[in-house]
Amino acid sequence: MTKLTFFTLIVLATSISFIFLETPPKSYYHTLFISDSFSDNSSIANHLYTLTKRPHVAGSQANADAAAYVLSIFTSCNIPSHVTSYDVSLTYPVSRSLTLKSSEKTIKFGLFQEIYDGDPYAEVANEVLPTFHAYARSGTATGPVVYANYGRVEDYATLREMGVNVSNTVVLARYGKIYRGDIVHNAHAVGAIGVLIFTDKKDYGGEKWFPDDKWMPPSGVQVGSVYDGIGDPTTPGWPSTGECERLSDEEVDEGGNVPLIPSLPISWADGDAIIRTIGGKVANVDWQGGKDSPIYRVGPGPAIANLSYEGQQVISTIQNVIAVIEGEEEPDRFVILGNHRDAWTFGAVDPNSGTASLLEITQRLEKLQKRGWRPRRTIILCNWDAEEYGLIGSTEWVEENREMLAARVVAYLNVDCAVQAGDFRASAMLFVQDPDNSSQTIYQSWLASGNDTTVKLGRLGGSGSDYAAFVQHIGAPAVDMSFGQGYPIYHSMYDDFVWMKKFGDPMFHRHVAGLLCLFSRLLYAAS
Ligand SMILES: *[C@@H]1O[C@H](CO)[C@@H](O)[C@H](O)[C@H]1NC(C)=O
Ligand SMILES: *[C@@H]1O[C@H](CO)[C@@H](O)[C@H](O)[C@H]1NC(C)=O
Ligand SMILES: *[C@@H]1O[C@H](CO)[C@@H](O)[C@H](O)[C@H]1NC(C)=O
Ligand SMILES: *[C@@H]1O[C@H](CO)[C@@H](O)[C@H](O)[C@H]1NC(C)=O
Ligand SMILES: *[C@@H]1O[C@H](CO)[C@@H](O)[C@H](O)[C@H]1NC(C)=O
Repeated sequence: MTKLTFFTLIVLATSISFIFLETPPKSYYHTLFISDSFSDNSSIANHLYTLTKRPHVAGSQANADAAAYVLSIFTSCNIPSHVTSYDVSLTYPVSRSLTLKSSEKTIKFGLFQEIYDGDPYAEVANEVLPTFHAYARSGTATGPVVYANYGRVEDYATLREMGVNVSNTVVLARYGKIYRGDIVHNAHAVGAIGVLIFTDKKDYGGEKWFPDDKWMPPSGVQVGSVYDGIGDPTTPGWPSTGECERLSDEEVDEGGNVPLIPSLPISWADGDAIIRTIGGKVANVDWQGGKDSPIYRVGPGPAIANLSYEGQQVISTIQNVIAVIEGEEEPDRFVILGNHRDAWTFGAVDPNSGTASLLEITQRLEKLQKRGWRPRRTIILCNWDAEEYGLIGSTEWVEENREMLAARVVAYLNVDCAVQAGDFRASAMLFVQDPDNSSQTIYQSWLASGNDTTVKLGRLGGSGSDYAAFVQHIGAPAVDMSFGQGYPIYHSMYDDFVWMKKFGDPMFHRHVAGLLCLFSRLLYAAS
């Protein structure tokens, strides 16, 4: 995996530039709290530990409990706070199966992630949802397997040139270059009847793996959504409140944002086992696996895969937790800081490293207020729900408050955790010491690293995180901050506090540095 810069920023709208004042205001408060450098790592570690004790997917009791924790921190800081709930259409897995028949044998895949010896989360591991794709089509697909590399449009062009007909096959693609929903969509467009997406060891694996190293274990699976839209798919453009009108299943299908063929995410061990059964032409060099991998061939077949998935669509209640610090001079101008809380599994990196920062920022704002500080503009702190399913909590909130937000939002700052590449301009980085190199600032490290060294993981394009509704629905300037180093256990059962403590951020100094950058931008924007 490419070396990652510790800290990257995406500037989503050039109009944001007014936030990044050339020279920071000579603010006493700002200096005071930015210089409070790495001293406060234990409080942020505690927040993270508490938030990630149990898996907390959107719609679960555990995630409602996590909402209550966030609310309790907000209110303990004497900041007026409330929960806004929506009833939204989520999906959960009911049954899954995958078998592969060749002339020699039949393989039946277990499709579960293994608990390791000494895992402190073993007891709650059964609360992790079975591996699945949210909003995947229910159904069965039986056909010969074709290997389609990353499942991009150009990969199918290559297959066509090689004379491979994908029609009526089950596509095996690997994760990594494009959004998983697009992998399924592209396969359907060329006539495939089902899709398996595996985590290739080449992209996410290493010689050793968690808990001995940071890499994805052989049975680790990247779960995630395959929905292409934003917000509740049954209420496009309006909030999912009360007895609101909803689209029928047929109308949702016609909208084109949900897949029409079944899919399953699988581990690198299972992907490897399937690859070994695929015959046909040898795939191009850049389609091959890493060291120790078998030779990748494109198929089709001869082995026949039978993939079966049944999901359940449920109207679930989700909770956004919102805190408002009213501005002293311009109360009608809003600076919003948002992060989501729901996680596919334990969420230590995604997203609760961001939630822990949000809570720490809230506590620092309280300290500032106690010393007499008041923001010029209103600051709104938002802890979103159901981001993983399709940015649902933030989108419903924007849809419910669209006119007011369109008139009042000056900036939306987002903190998730996915590592993404992008253009960058930031003033705070100039001052914050690099937690991995005490002789320079984060900005200097970023310059030295070469600005092109980040890998993109997760949902890409215009709707990577909760800033999407702000940008797309109301045209607000937005910034997304991502932090974390190489994050191979993305959306797997192993994204837990142990991984963070061992490999992600052992001293929680990176959290603090990221937090200081974010905090200082928030102050700039609000004052
Ligand atoms: C691909 O195979 C399908 C049958 O599975 C067939 O109908 C179609 O004509 C084939 N396409 C090409 C380009 O050969
Ligand atoms: C495929 O698997 C499903 C679920 O296990 C099963 O009901 C179905 O009969 C299988 N189809 C074939 C062709 O083997
Ligand atoms: C830390 O920064 C200094 C320059 O300020 C540089 O010479 C050194 O190589 C860096 N160390 C690491 C481990 O990156
Ligand atoms: C990174 O970007 C900055 C500003 O755009 C530029 O000055 C610098 O040379 C770049 N660093 C590398 C290694 O490309
Ligand atoms: C906080 O940082 C110090 C070193 O600066 C370290 O000894 C301590 O273990 C860290 N605390 C946590 C919770 O990681």
